[in-house]
Amino acid sequence: MTLLFFLFGFLLSTTISNVAAKDFCIADLKGGLTPGGYPCKSLQSVTVDDFVFSNFTVGTPNQLKMSFTPAFVEQLSALNGLGFSLARVELEEGGVVPIHTHVDATEVTIPTGGNFTIGFISSDNVVYMKTISEGNIFVIPKGLLHFGLNVGKGKHSAIYVFSSEHRSLQVVDLALFGSNLDSNIVAKTTFLDIEQIKKLKTLFKGSG
Ligand SMILES: *[C@@H]1O[C@H](CO)[C@@H](O)[C@H](O)[C@H]1NC(C)=O
Ligand SMILES: *[C@@H]1O[C@H](CO)[C@@H](O)[C@H](O)[C@H]1NC(C)=O
Repeated sequence: MTLLFFLFGFLLSTTISNVAAKDFCIADLKGGLTPGGYPCKSLQSVTVDDFVFSNFTVGTPNQLKMSFTPAFVEQLSALNGLGFSLARVELEEGGVVPIHTHVDATEVTIPTGGNFTIGFISSDNVVYMKTISEGNIFVIPKGLLHFGLNVGKGKHSAIYVFSSEHRSLQVVDLALFGSNLDSNIVAKTTFLDIEQIKKLKTLFKGSG
């Protein structure tokens, strides 16, 4: 009888810890981000709050008239290892999303209000562009340059899903005009006028 209890208890405890360990890997943010994600928090320190992000609200708009609230693994540690993340975006009337790319993530746009013109440019330079509103979903394949404009009256809002727990972001204007790449090299390699480059370097706080 004692042996049975012992065996049952042993089976139960190993089952519980194994199942839990395989079910999720809550990010230990202090462990640092590696190419394989964050290390897992110990199961003893996991609570229900690791699965909840309570601040998925609209924040204050930036210079681009855009509020961007990420729900990446840094905000929602349960996303660690799950291969996706989210963001909530609101764009004031006339606001734009400058041309940019996420080399590590496909993006899904789910508009929840307003009229939004969104598009991407394929690697063979074909433009795929459409004005979308609530009820539409638009997919931007991984790594392609894309952009958006609020073309409606009033605010445009959307939920974004990315196929990465913390998607990377490279904005073309910032790479060219917000960096310290020498203006003469920017002019030669983009075929733009040097005066225009100097203007944009000032605007995007670049140097060189
Ligand atoms: C919630 O988000 C806003 C901006 O998006 C930020 O200012 C605030 O500190 C956040 N609150 C918490 C509890 O994280
Ligand atoms: C969006 O476009 C439709 C069709 O042109 C129009 O009826 C609607 O008023 C527009 N909505 C906004 C918020 O601009």
